[in-house]
Amino acid sequence: MYSSKAKIVFIFFIINSCQYLIALKNNNPTPVVLWHGMGDSCCFSFSLGAIKNIIEEEIPGIYVKSVKIGNNVIEDVENSYFKNVNEQIEEVCEDLANDPSLKDGYNAIGFSQGGQFLRGLAERCPIPQMKNLISLGGQHQGVYGLPNCGSLEHKACDYLRRMLNHGAYLSFIQNRFVQAEYWHDPLQEDEYRKNSVFLADINNELVVNETYRENLQRLETLVLVMFENDTMVQPRESEWFGFYKPGQSVELQTLQDSDLYIEDRLGLQQMDKAGKIHFLSIPTNHLQFDEDWLKKEIIHKYLV
Ligand SMILES: *[C@@H]1O[C@H](CO)[C@@H](O)[C@H](O)[C@H]1NC(C)=O
Ligand SMILES: *[C@@H]1O[C@H](CO)[C@@H](O)[C@H](O)[C@H]1NC(C)=O
Repeated sequence: MYSSKAKIVFIFFIINSCQYLIALKNNNPTPVVLWHGMGDSCCFSFSLGAIKNIIEEEIPGIYVKSVKIGNNVIEDVENSYFKNVNEQIEEVCEDLANDPSLKDGYNAIGFSQGGQFLRGLAERCPIPQMKNLISLGGQHQGVYGLPNCGSLEHKACDYLRRMLNHGAYLSFIQNRFVQAEYWHDPLQEDEYRKNSVFLADINNELVVNETYRENLQRLETLVLVMFENDTMVQPRESEWFGFYKPGQSVELQTLQDSDLYIEDRLGLQQMDKAGKIHFLSIPTNHLQFDEDWLKKEIIHKYLV
């Protein structure tokens, strides 16, 4: 029998060790990898540079890596339109694997198209391990329409849009235009399944790649943020894995009503039932969130 004094001492000891462990954990925060959107770069001070600073202020000592595709920020912006996504993912995979700071795993935040690119990375690149994936306005069922082309000036944007409308699934367009690689035409579902070199592949549309399923299951949490007043993504429900019902472009269906979910081709049903998919929304336009929202809803919930 312990005396009550010994018990109290013992309890203090446990409390102190817990505090010590918590302190230890906070001294070694899980690193974060950011992937920017279309027309953006790793490091602009008005976009991901600012986000990186906020995370670093909120979680002292954290390592934040913002991926850069190419040798400088200009190439990084260009590549967000013109470099085959499959190659981008391969390069980022290699880059992360060679980064010793990430060897024990990392959390990831994708901005717009960066959201689906990071999901592709999670499915294809299990080492190092991605833990939480936060997708801010990512288009997980693709887009059917490009009302706004980011920083690309208007003439080039119109050209891009025309190319996508007329020949998104032609192989020379698929391999050259990033946005073609997640173009999802609900009037041509078969063409999409057969010819989309990126999105249909990571969504296990044509064949079920068990490796993709298994790797995606290894995520602790998949956080899908939808911008309710998004005028840049068509349809915005794609940010929650929703899309048009096949064969038309008016009526929408949710992830839970889709064949992808019902047949559980990607393991999303299993993840959803295990409570691993968090559906968040914010009543603003594309990527319009403020610092308070970012801190409260993302940083303190998923990164600390
Ligand atoms: C599944 O994906 C892995 C990783 O990308 C790839 O190596 C493999 O060939 C794919 N398998 C099938 C059946 O497509
Ligand atoms: C934002 O979206 C909500 C829900 O779709 C809608 O009720 C609201 O009117 C929209 N607000 C603006 C400013 O467009």
